[in-house]
Amino acid sequence: MRKVMSRPPALELAQRPRRLRRSAARRLMVEETVLRPADFIAPLFVVEGDAPPEEIASMPGVFRLNVADLVRECRELHALGIPAVALFPKLDPARKDDTGTEALNPETLVLRAVRAVKAALPDLVVITDVALDPYTSHGHDGVLTTARDDVDNDRTVAILAEMAVLQARAGVDFVAPSDMMDGRVGAIRRALDAAGCTDTGILAYSAKYNSAYYGPFRDAVGSAQAAGTRLLSKATYQMNPANRREAVSEVLLDDAEGADILMVKPAGLYLDIIRDVREATRKPVAAYQISGEYAQLQAAARLGWLDLVRCRRESLVAIKRAGADLILTYFAKEMARELRGG
Ligand code: PBG
Repeated sequence: MRKVMSRPPALELAQRPRRLRRSAARRLMVEETVLRPADFIAPLFVVEGDAPPEEIASMPGVFRLNVADLVRECRELHALGIPAVALFPKLDPARKDDTGTEALNPETLVLRAVRAVKAALPDLVVITDVALDPYTSHGHDGVLTTARDDVDNDRTVAILAEMAVLQARAGVDFVAPSDMMDGRVGAIRRALDAAGCTDTGILAYSAKYNSAYYGPFRDAVGSAQAAGTRLLSKATYQMNPANRREAVSEVLLDDAEGADILMVKPAGLYLDIIRDVREATRKPVAAYQISGEYAQLQAAARLGWLDLVRCRRESLVAIKRAGADLILTYFAKEMARELRGG
């Protein structure tokens, strides 16, 4: 005779959380974090000349674009619902010098790029970095002291304030100080207001860590030696990855100095910081999923070790769940396509 396995009596559970996960429809009903194309800001690299797009070796799918191609790319992003782009110039090394003189040239590459994009797409939000690293031959984010053993904070801030005014006059919506000098947000705000640019906002890289994951970006813009000149490391201005309270203190300073949006960078390895910052300010919080975060996922996907589509979505949901309102990500275009079902 066959023994009939009897069903054990149901556990007496008042709570069965799995009920909410039972079907796709139920899961969707209780989903807490939803990505949308408007969450993303696309970082884009621009170069001189009219060469065709050049792929960045350590960032598959990311290209250096000439101004005409940049405008074309912006048009596509805009059509996909991406509200904003952040432009980064890669300069001809011949234009770089010790003090980053080119940064104050009113006809410098990034300003011409801004004018072209704003002329074609006035509704697209354009953001530009305020920092000297693309312009200095040593790759640091500011000018050096005579002993060349430090970035001269106050001299650098004066240059950054001028740079921000040039960018505002070229039509950017937000200037984004990414240098981590003390007092730069306040100085930039005052300079913008004095120039009549009261509508130009500041997206401050407030808690920017001294991360090894910036490597691919430095290839992209050619600022590689900045990982540390012999006497001077970026650790003297970017934050120590070990510090958490310090991020809140940096953010509160930038908030008080007049930043409109506060940013944490990198993003994925700093989710605790994003959460802390979210709770410390009422202003919008941005997070930058940086080049190394992108490169890691691309590399693992190429080896067949990770599923790129699922991993990139999970990496971005995590950043938003941690508290970011806006995410700078090299996946912006692909994610927007995916979210629109295309
Ligand atoms: C520099 C700047 C950096 C990034 C954006 N602006 C790198 C650095 O400090 O060397 C990094 C972005 C990325 O890695 O994707 N002011």
